[in-house]
Amino acid sequence: RAAKRSRIEHLTKEDFKNGLFLAPMVRSGALPTRLFALKHGASLVWGPEIVDKAVLHSERVVDPVTGLVSYNGKQGRAIFTTHPIEKPYYIFQMGSADPDLAVQAARMVQQDVSGIDLNCGCPKPFSTHSGMGAALLTNPDLLCSILTALRAAMPPEITVTAKIRLLPSQEDTLKLVERIVNTGISALTIHCRTRNMRDRDAALVGRLREIVEFVEKMGKGIAVTENGDCTGAEDAIRVRELTGAHSVMIARAAESNPSCFSMNPLVDVEQTLTPAYLRLAKYLDNNWGLTKFCISQFKGRHVAFDKAQQKTYHQVLNAAKGFDDAALSEMVGEWTGEEEFKEIVKVIEA
Ligand code: FNR
Repeated sequence: RAAKRSRIEHLTKEDFKNGLFLAPMVRSGALPTRLFALKHGASLVWGPEIVDKAVLHSERVVDPVTGLVSYNGKQGRAIFTTHPIEKPYYIFQMGSADPDLAVQAARMVQQDVSGIDLNCGCPKPFSTHSGMGAALLTNPDLLCSILTALRAAMPPEITVTAKIRLLPSQEDTLKLVERIVNTGISALTIHCRTRNMRDRDAALVGRLREIVEFVEKMGKGIAVTENGDCTGAEDAIRVRELTGAHSVMIARAAESNPSCFSMNPLVDVEQTLTPAYLRLAKYLDNNWGLTKFCISQFKGRHVAFDKAQQKTYHQVLNAAKGFDDAALSEMVGEWTGEEEFKEIVKVIEA
């Protein structure tokens, strides 16, 4: 029991192997989504990217009733929230282009997370303009200096990892991977698209096997995680066979259905997942707009809940102004969310 406990409280390189992970997703990777992913079989969950400076300007507040931890920005709005129940599995993803700022931000959040992951793949101008995200792929000195600084500053129980994209040439990708692995990271995720590829372009998974074998030959025991186009738990078996990757990370399929980590995902997203998600989001005081957004991304049957009026869950949600909306209460029934939360705690602890 003690061994299990210490394993859970302290991630090692081994925990990044044989895993199915929830990918970092701005907005879509909110706390209730991460808890649902864990409940339905995700082994580790990445939070949405948070920029180092945003963390440095935030204040940590703990809700004494629910235990919710909020990092509130200047206007008092949470820039991210977490809960101690997810800590053993929660990887905080950071956007940074500065080793000192990255270390300061990591020190601020380290009590609430198990690992710090550096975003080296976001192609959006707001990231790349300031040298963050995918811009780091063409500035390997800076990329590696951030990872080295984080590794040196963090205690051993906090893992340091990176998520990159492929470079256009395989040779350049291998050179970059070699440098990154030599910084002392615990694991590496490779989104199998290049910086200029769109999400609708098929991921170049065929390039991954050579990279996995290359990292294995380096002999540091580092896991390589495949990311790109995996549709769920069953598909992850195919992806691992195809690529040799140690683990698989899922983004959009989990945005559509956070129970996709299960071999038996919830099929009726509207009748089952949506009400449960709403109750949990209320309990965790999740931002209303963010809650609505996450639910709007779910894909499933759009069944009328009110046959007489032919209203669907989504119509009711769209019209609602907050968790206390009367039509919404009618839809989801009992309304504190504490039961949902307790059930998730039970499953995660088991
Ligand atoms: C993303 N992605 C992303 N990546 C990252 O490293 N940090 C982030 O914060 C985000 N945010 C984000 C938001 C949303 C809504 C989407 C859809 C994607 C990219 C994501 O983690 C992943 O690399 C790609 O989506 C490819 O995986 P899938 O979608 O093919 O499984």
